[in-house]
Amino acid sequence: MTDKTSNQMWGGRFAAGPDAIMEAINASIGFDKRLAAQDIAGSRAHAAMLAATGIISDKDAEAMREGLLTVLSEIEGGTFEFSIALEDIHMNVEARLKDIIGEPAGRLHTGRSRNDQVATDFKLWVRDQLDSFEAGLLALIRALLDQAEAGADWVMPGFTHLQTAQPVTWGHHMMAYVEMFGRDLGRVRDARARMNECPLGAAALAGTSFPIDREMTAKALGFDRPAANSLDAVSDRDFALEFLSSASICAMHLSRFAEELVIWSSAQFRFVTLSDRFSTGSSIMPQKKNPDAAELIRAKIGRIFGANVALMTVMKGLPLAYSKDMQEDKEQVFDASDNLMLALAAMEGMVRDMQANCPSLETAAASGFSTATDLADWLVRVLNMPFREAHHVTGSLVAVAEARGSDLPELSLEDMRQVHSGITSDIFEVLGVHNSVASRTSYGGTAPVQVRAQIARWKERLS
Ligand code: ARG
Repeated sequence: MTDKTSNQMWGGRFAAGPDAIMEAINASIGFDKRLAAQDIAGSRAHAAMLAATGIISDKDAEAMREGLLTVLSEIEGGTFEFSIALEDIHMNVEARLKDIIGEPAGRLHTGRSRNDQVATDFKLWVRDQLDSFEAGLLALIRALLDQAEAGADWVMPGFTHLQTAQPVTWGHHMMAYVEMFGRDLGRVRDARARMNECPLGAAALAGTSFPIDREMTAKALGFDRPAANSLDAVSDRDFALEFLSSASICAMHLSRFAEELVIWSSAQFRFVTLSDRFSTGSSIMPQKKNPDAAELIRAKIGRIFGANVALMTVMKGLPLAYSKDMQEDKEQVFDASDNLMLALAAMEGMVRDMQANCPSLETAAASGFSTATDLADWLVRVLNMPFREAHHVTGSLVAVAEARGSDLPELSLEDMRQVHSGITSDIFEVLGVHNSVASRTSYGGTAPVQVRAQIARWKERLS
């Protein structure tokens, strides 16, 4: 006889129930209730397959189907009572099914284990997140393309080391992020294609002696095929790690952009104005408008990196097949996913609303000797000077301008000819920022014609 307090699902060999501390460390229902819909979808597919293969009767399968739908509506309606004693979502659902349909509920677990069940549920959940991730990226890319299109000709300073380097176009800068988020999109799609194999039917670890049809359950749950090795199927969490690692790379991109928006919206830069919808004020300084959304995106990234490291660490020493350590996969992925989706949506909103301040951008683009390279290139092109010598001559011209407190285009032809007598007045043409960007027509360069070609290529790719 089993003690009344031992677990009703697996307590046959137990004389007593768990200590309260054991229950607290062991139970996952507090968080894995988020897998309820996936758990019920998996059970419905399994029940239908058990009937189709003659393992259970059609009558029992029909009772399970009806009962599982009732459980789902109770959970969705908020009336379901979750029990810690029942540990996790799998046993909570099954116990409630038993209350509703009685004896047939006990046949649902035939040819299945919680190990393949949890792997299946979690995969279905992560697959949905990959789809949301993809949608979030596409929306952000579209917002960036709109900005790029509007500002394909606007000039701004390009930086290296955050020092003024050469003028670039606003469109070019926006398109750099399109490339980054485009690679993220590729990673998400690759991960989704690779993960789409169904663990259900791997059972505890070795498969089952019942004549199950794994093709059928895989198909019913939208998988491409059943996972081919039962040991691997129950102990694989690569799909969650690929989600977290592609989320981490995307988060790093979001954080870099967020950092630029923080800098650009400062009074010292004034490159952009962020919308009121994505800014906040200060309770003491009335003039303040803070780029909080950008700052929070920049910060939330830490949680996503953290989740990736945490799950890698959980998995790294585990022998095959399932170990309870793996229960620690879910909270990390849930938190990372919630924050990633929020960060993507906030970034899309900020990008859609932000206003580039063209006069500030252009003034900044023209300062800091930003067209010095254009000058050096002119010396090479027109005077056939070796680039190294041109670099040196230009450096001398910059020194002269700096000593005068002026910029390169403000030097007189005389000043220039003192440094090199071959210089003619034509040189002034290349010192303007618009000419500078227009000249950079090499593939992938900043010239508006190149930027427009890249925008067109992306639009084609996304259509
Ligand atoms: N709650 C468990 C988890 O999330 C389900 C699998 C339990 N399997 C077991 N053999 N105890 O991993």
